[in-house]
Amino acid sequence: STSINLAVIPGDGIGQEVVAQGLKVLTAVLPQDVKLETKQYDLGAQRWHRTGETLPDAELESLKHHDAILLGAIGDPSVPSGVLERGLLLKLRFAFDHFINLRPSKLFPNTATPLAGRPEIDFVVVREGTEGPYTGNGGSLRTGTPAEVATEVSINTAYGVERVVRDAYERANARPRKKLTLVHKNNVLVYAGHLWKNIFDKVGQEYPEVTTDYLHVDAATIFFVTQPERFDVIVTDNLFGDILTDLAAAVTGGIGLAASGNINPTGAFPSMFEPVHGSAPDIAGTGKADPTATILSVALLLRHLGHEAEAARIEDAVTADLAERDGTFRSTDAIGDALAARVAG
Ligand code: IPM
Ligand code: MN
Repeated sequence: STSINLAVIPGDGIGQEVVAQGLKVLTAVLPQDVKLETKQYDLGAQRWHRTGETLPDAELESLKHHDAILLGAIGDPSVPSGVLERGLLLKLRFAFDHFINLRPSKLFPNTATPLAGRPEIDFVVVREGTEGPYTGNGGSLRTGTPAEVATEVSINTAYGVERVVRDAYERANARPRKKLTLVHKNNVLVYAGHLWKNIFDKVGQEYPEVTTDYLHVDAATIFFVTQPERFDVIVTDNLFGDILTDLAAAVTGGIGLAASGNINPTGAFPSMFEPVHGSAPDIAGTGKADPTATILSVALLLRHLGHEAEAARIEDAVTADLAERDGTFRSTDAIGDALAARVAG
């Protein structure tokens, strides 16, 4: 028998509600002999208002000792933009070296999408998670004056690019279509673009069965809408990946279904799983939030921890549940209950 020692960070807004449903389904899907232990961490906007802290060292240290982290959402309009993002969410991604930000996109049945009825859409974006313009490497001169100058430097290291590109090749190689697309903007961002393309081509020599493709990010956004079935695995930098995965979510069924994993494949630190959507303060507490993205993130978490059968049961339950859905509104709780019942059955 095994056990899962899970850290839970519900966070802000609808984070609380969707995480409760994620845990409900997780409990329902786990076999008797897998022992689940959870510890909740009170982090986010309320904590910051109360104490001024975003992620104290003691809690960061404590989080290290879990098998994985389930996170709801971070961010609130009452907190200055960037404080929680940088001080909590990105701090976790950097501290635990989550260099793979895994964001699968699938066209589920009966979902509100401009692409309903199109050929099968089933791709995964492997977004770099620890570099690019997210490192906070920048600055401001003559701030607040008419002569203000701001820089925001994108960091790309051979080490960082190679490890994410290699991971993407591994994933592509393990999928039936074996296709990997690099997305960048090497006609303008020539230095980083060169590094990415060079490493992409070099590592590709080790994966002769993988078909490769390159797209500029602007062109990629067109194909996401006009021809999304052309994609299998996409590898891209942190910022392009951020933008592309919101678009991917929007065209494949909505942000309420988009799951993600912030993964450290080495196992040196716990990986963290979270819905792609934010804290949606406008609908917090109304029971309108769709917990499916969090529940699918739980599936990614289970797969990461080696519980493939349980992960697949959750994904199949979501597909079956959506297929039977007649379009009538269901509350956050009702969706969680329905999926928990399915995976347990
Ligand atoms: C995401 C979010 C974050 C990001 C923000 C909240 C820092 O948009 O997880 O996609 O940009 O990575
Ligand atoms: Mn985003």
